[in-house]
Formats: sequence, C-alpha cells, structure tokens
Amino acid sequence: MKDGFGNIVTTCSEKSVEAIDRFSNSLVGLGTDFAVAFEASDEDPDCAVLSALATQLALFMESPDRGQFIDKFLNRAIAAAPGATEREQLFVEAMNAHCNNDFARATSLHRRLAADYPQDLVSAKIGQTLYFNLGDDEGMLWLADQIIDTHRDCAYAHGMRAFGLEQMSRLEEAEEEGRRATQMLRREPWAHHAVAHVMITQGRLDDGINWMREYSSEWEDCNSFMYTHNWWHLALFHLEKEEFDQALALYDGHIWGQDKTYSQDQINAISMLWRLELAGVEVGDRWEELSEYVAERSFVNDQPFLDMQYAFALARGGRKDALHILLEGMRKVAAEGPEVTKEAWQNVAIPATESFIAYAEGDFKKTLSLLATPREKLQSIGGSHAQRDLFEQVWIHSLMKAKKFDQALPLIQERLDFRAPAKIDQTLFSKAKKFETVAI
Ligand SMILES: [Fe+2]
Repeated sequence: MKDGFGNIVTTCSEKSVEAIDRFSNSLVGLGTDFAVAFEASDEDPDCAVLSALATQLALFMESPDRGQFIDKFLNRAIAAAPGATEREQLFVEAMNAHCNNDFARATSLHRRLAADYPQDLVSAKIGQTLYFNLGDDEGMLWLADQIIDTHRDCAYAHGMRAFGLEQMSRLEEAEEEGRRATQMLRREPWAHHAVAHVMITQGRLDDGINWMREYSSEWEDCNSFMYTHNWWHLALFHLEKEEFDQALALYDGHIWGQDKTYSQDQINAISMLWRLELAGVEVGDRWEELSEYVAERSFVNDQPFLDMQYAFALARGGRKDALHILLEGMRKVAAEGPEVTKEAWQNVAIPATESFIAYAEGDFKKTLSLLATPREKLQSIGGSHAQRDLFEQVWIHSLMKAKKFDQALPLIQERLDFRAPAKIDQTLFSKAKKFETVAI
C-alpha cells in the first residue's frame, strides 16, 4: 500500500496506513495525534515501518518506563524488517541506530533515505531533529534540499527548508521560504517559527511581534513544544523591546502551563525566566514553582542543551538533591556516552553547567573562568542560535557583575552592530559605559 506521501508500505491493513498518515502529519505538522502508532502497531506487528514510528513515539516519552516501550517496538520493527522494502529497512535501521545512541549512523541513514527516497518526508524531519541536537546546521539544510523538489506542493517541506536556511544564516531565502509555506498553508507553525528566527536575528522586533501575533491563533492544536516555543519567540520580541510586562504575561499565559512535566515546555520557561532576570526583571516566586517540576523529572541525559538549562533552574530554585542527580548523570554520559557527542558533553556541557551553577550562586568570577573555554564551542551542544544566545548574555552579564566593563563593552557593541539595535542591548551598553567611566 502507499502512505499519504507516496511511500510504499508493506502491509495489507488500511488501518495501519491511516495510523502512519496520522502520525506523519502530526510529526511534520507539530500536532498531537501520535498515540495511534502504539495501538496500530499492536494490531499489525508485521508492519515494520509502523513499529519504527511507534519506536519514535516511545523516544518522545519521558516517563521512567520509556525504555520498555522503546525495546518493544524497536524489536518488533527489526523482526518485521526482512519482509519490508529497502526504504522501510533503512528507516528501521536508522531508528535502531538512534535508539543505540549511534547518532552518526542514524544521520547517515536519514541522508541515504533523503537521497534515494525523497518522498519520505518523515525520515527527513527526524534526521533534521537529530542534526539540530548535534548543532549541525549544514546537515539540517542538506536534508531539506534533498526532499524539496519532490514536495514542492507541501507547505511543511518548505517550512523545514526555511528553518534549515535560517540556521545556515541565509536569512532572506529563509524568510521567503517561510512566507511561501505560510501562504500555502496558514497553519504551518514551523514556518511561522522559521520567519520569527529571521526577524529576531535581524533585530526586526516590531515585524516579529506583528508576524507572530498574526498567526498565534493557529497554534491552538499544536503539540506543547510548538505551542510554547512559538509563544516563547513572541515573548522574546517583547523582551528585547523591554516590554517586560508583556513578556511576563506571555510566560504566565502561554509559555508555562501547557504540560509542565514536558522537557520542551520546561526549557522554554527556563530560558524566558532567565532572560527576564538578566534584564533586571523581578520574577517573584516563579523559579521555585518551575524548579519543582524540573526536580521531578527522570533525567535521561540525552541532550546537553536541555541538561544545562535544567541545572540552572535547579540551582536557582535551590533544588540541591535533584541537581546532584542531574550532574551525576551528565558526568556519566560525558565519560561513557556516544563518541559523536562525547566532546560536547565533556568539554562544553559540563564546564558550562558548572559555570551556570556558579552564576546562580552569585559567584561571577567563577562563572567567567568556567565558561571561557566552552563559550567558543557552544554550537556543539545543539539548540538554535537564538536559544544559545542566552549563554552569550550570561557571559556578558557576568563580565558586568565582575566589573569587567572594558571586556563587556565591545561584546555589546558587536550585538548592536550585528543587527538593528534592540533596546535591551542599548540599555546594557549605556550601563556598561556609565560604570566604566565611574570605574576609571
Ligand atoms: Fe526557535
């Protein structure tokens, strides 16, 4: 049979194909209709690609028993693979590599799929996410470039390419591609997101507010990652305009509160709260409340970008026991983890995390000494340029707090020159200038 993107699926069950289509549309469209994969795989265990998608769903799970689900569906997919097509076999193999933390092999298989079977949009999307977590912008765009001709009429494919272009700093093309996707399909949240990235990178704060407000009504049925992340982007524009009340209201109303147990919700909340505090905003007892949820996580230590921010939230919220468990896990994966991410964990994530803990404790000289080296290599821990900018802000604020205004000033100047000047950077510049004079 064939799925909605035209891929051959080895099954006789219409229900299985329907489940694949529902899952696939949710994945590329940032929806919520994923659970169907588990039930459908149970009913059709010989459908290899369906079980591989169920494995992907198990990977999304964050409960302590997720390993059992991963094993169940992955083993089923591997057992069914010999009777499946080459595309399906490659997809199962990519999932197998992913589950075994062999990210180099997983991404190379997604590349092969994109080159040989460009109609497989789901594979390209999963591959892009893996590259995103590895900080590999080129890989993200490469995958989108491979599949775009086959999916000219699919808004989601253009959205995927728009974000790849943006991360490669090809901003004009990214905006064009994101606007194209949005014209094709008004509800294309990933395209809204890609254009928001272009606008924040260029300092077009009013454009960004107008753009995201225009489409915010389309995010209601998105999964909590996309919902909270797009609202986070809107709050970011307000924050950089120093419209702090609006940013805080978006934090309370949209960014924090969808699924307080989910990783991405927590990361968006941590990132916004931290930035607000850096800007001098009083955030009340929000850290206490947020860190309570972070402390209840079962940490899987699969992405340094997440762990680094959990650690700050735990330190800031005074959750010492949970912080200790998190750090133990991080050190373990740094010592024993996959080769491709070892350097990122050992030489970037661990010292940067220790520097953030020092920041939370008010030891800014220690923050500076620990962050100096990892700061140069932060791309390797994953996340977007806009997300990682938080860490650069921590560096600059630490310089200021340590009274190293002469070092902070050129960095703030760089930010002002890089894009249309944002009010938040102008204020910081004036402050550094004022204190530098006083210091002299
Ligand atoms: Fe983003």
